Amino acid sequence: MAENTGTATLTIKGKTYELPMHSPTNGPDVIDIRKLYAQADVFTYDPGFTSTAACDSTITFIDGDKGELLHRGYPIDQLASQSHYLEVCYLLFYGELPSAEELEKFESLVTNHTMIHEQMHNFFRGFRRDAHPMATMVGVVGAMSAFYHDSTDINDAHQREVASIRLIAKMPTIAAMAYKYSIGQPFVYPRNDLDYAANFLHMCFSVPAETYNVNPIMARAMDRIFTLHADHEQNASTSTVRLASSSGANPFACIAAGIACLWGPAHGGANQACLEMLREIGTVDRIPEFIARAKDKDDPFRLMGFGHRVYKNFDPRAKVMKESADEVLDLMGVEDNPTLQVAKELERVALEDPYFKEKKLYPNVDFYSGIILDAMGFPTSMFTPIFALARTVGWISQWKEQLADPQLKIGRPRQLYLGETARNYVDIEKR
Ligand code: CMC
Repeated sequence: MAENTGTATLTIKGKTYELPMHSPTNGPDVIDIRKLYAQADVFTYDPGFTSTAACDSTITFIDGDKGELLHRGYPIDQLASQSHYLEVCYLLFYGELPSAEELEKFESLVTNHTMIHEQMHNFFRGFRRDAHPMATMVGVVGAMSAFYHDSTDINDAHQREVASIRLIAKMPTIAAMAYKYSIGQPFVYPRNDLDYAANFLHMCFSVPAETYNVNPIMARAMDRIFTLHADHEQNASTSTVRLASSSGANPFACIAAGIACLWGPAHGGANQACLEMLREIGTVDRIPEFIARAKDKDDPFRLMGFGHRVYKNFDPRAKVMKESADEVLDLMGVEDNPTLQVAKELERVALEDPYFKEKKLYPNVDFYSGIILDAMGFPTSMFTPIFALARTVGWISQWKEQLADPQLKIGRPRQLYLGETARNYVDIEKR
């Protein structure tokens, strides 16, 4: 915990309370209200945690006004262009960039844990073929605690590490299997001679009937998508993982909870919703109609892939993603992709519109990612599973950090109760 660096004075009904303050290495100071209820008999009220820090962390920092995203201090654009996903995984999980030897050992560790327990194949077969791959992933990842008993003891440091490596290593296998199952093709086993991203493409797109050669540019684009989604500090799914873990739940159960939360369209589900929206718009002449709907308070429609709780200038991930979209479409020989045209024009129109300007709404990471994934051959239902597999390292790093925190307490928010006060039960015939 940071040192006390000042005090905030709070006056309630004429009585004054001194609250300690802490200064972070980056970002605004925090007022420590942990003793407030005991001292003043009041709660604070902050639905959606818009002004509340629920933990301290050293992993990721976002400056929403500057459009800055740092992992362990390193800017995301540098990591996306100069590093690669497994190195970023190492950085997030262990705290520093690895030496060449450390990286080689880590890559080999992950590569040697990519297969899943053979019995899990039967577990997959219990799902309906038309199940959304996210539904399958929530179930299968939760079920890992039934298959890997030797890494569920959260009080054992070795088991914590084994569970983390298993999750990072097996998540692409599980996501690819969820996809293969949904399209009625046989599961494809991982290949240890391929790197992390290439192996995922192989497990998704190869079939036993013919040889599949992974295109290195596609693999690089896939790796970059993973890197851009690796962690994002205390977002909804990460906070869900932390809350689940605060009760002592096992790591597989906690990550399954994170996947469930990520699925929602306001969070990771936005990439699927965004591409579906761009397709529905279809042509640039229909953009004004959708812009008008997004601004209409009586219409629940929102521009998907637009807006962010923290970024109020631009999302640095969206910038890299837009460049990648151009690269991948170029590679695929797609010159006039109508969806990309709609996306670029929609972005241009929205950024000039006073509504979006005033509310500081900019394209987020999900705005261009769907276009790339679509060009690679993924159906929209696989977009959020890909986000989930890439975010697993962020979730598990935050889980590990929380478990090492001596101040860890079970998460237990309070409430502003507006229901009935105590009243007597009324027999059914008298109601
Ligand atoms: N289209 C139209 N209006 C919007 C949008 C949008 N995409 N986003 C926010 N607004 C408006 C909203 O109606 C509100 O207006 P008012 O103040 O008049 O009521 C104002 O902007 C603030 O919105 P908010 O919902 O209070 O902001 P929030 O911080 O709670 O929500 C958000 C952030 C990302 C959930 C929201 O911007 C949104 O729903 N965006 C679309 C979904 C999306 O793209 N999600 C992906 C987020 S990035 C990846 C990830 O985290 O998974």
